[in-house]
Amino acid sequence: MNKDIFKKFDGTPAAIIGAVVLVGIAGYGFYTYRNFEGERAWLLTELTAAQDWNYELLLDVREKERIVDSFSSQLEELGVTVGVLDKLAHTDEELLKKYSKVYFLNENYIPATLFDIDEKYLLPGSKNFMIYGKVWPHLRDLLEAAHSAGQNLLIASAYRSFGTQSALKSAYTVSYGSGANRFSADQGYSEHQLGTAVDFTTNKLGTGFSAFASEPAYKWLQENAHKYGFILSYPKNNAYYQYEPWHWRYVGIELATKLHDENKFFYDLDQREIDKYLVNLFD
Ligand code: DAL
Ligand code: ZN
Repeated sequence: MNKDIFKKFDGTPAAIIGAVVLVGIAGYGFYTYRNFEGERAWLLTELTAAQDWNYELLLDVREKERIVDSFSSQLEELGVTVGVLDKLAHTDEELLKKYSKVYFLNENYIPATLFDIDEKYLLPGSKNFMIYGKVWPHLRDLLEAAHSAGQNLLIASAYRSFGTQSALKSAYTVSYGSGANRFSADQGYSEHQLGTAVDFTTNKLGTGFSAFASEPAYKWLQENAHKYGFILSYPKNNAYYQYEPWHWRYVGIELATKLHDENKFFYDLDQREIDKYLVNLFD
């Protein structure tokens, strides 16, 4: 090692050496500070970018939440709609149509299910009287309620096929000529073909149920039949047939109750108004 180098400093005052060292430290400090500043600025830029990105993500999340919420409520509504559609898909629209000389049922229209009514509910000597399966529980409840109220209500006629109605009308026409049109529907125009209409009588009247209007059972029906979904199809002075106090049709509790409460008749309503009740026909 060259000892001359040390010798060179031998005469240098300590202050100069100190100053040189300080300048060196300051220079290094400044250099480091500049580096830190640069890094700080870079980090700040990164932070701002991250914050912006976060904000956008937040907006995105909020938007997705809004979409999910909207889907949920749509699904809820859709749930109702699917239920309604399912009910309608299983309910023949024919069941609430105005058959009396307005709509026509062809010979192929047969109710989806037909229930064989227990003979204890029928006019003695009758059998094989059938009713649309979904109407039966309502008719049974009506009959049981009438019996509990002391009314001797019996069924004199129920479902009649296109063919049966045709034969019946022909027989009436032979006996009454065109007068039969006042009380008997042509085939394809009878509510009986729907399987939702019945003719009532009592033990006392038997087949002579044209006098049914004077029976207490008729009064009971006027006050109570709507609770079981039944209405009187042909009141006094209706536009279609003679007064038929014995002939009652199932139209559902909702519509029957509305008609009863508003003192209106089924055939007075617009078909569009009636159709709204189809969805709740068997509720
Ligand atoms: N007696 C009613 C009108 C019918 O035949 O359907
Ligand atoms: Zn009838």
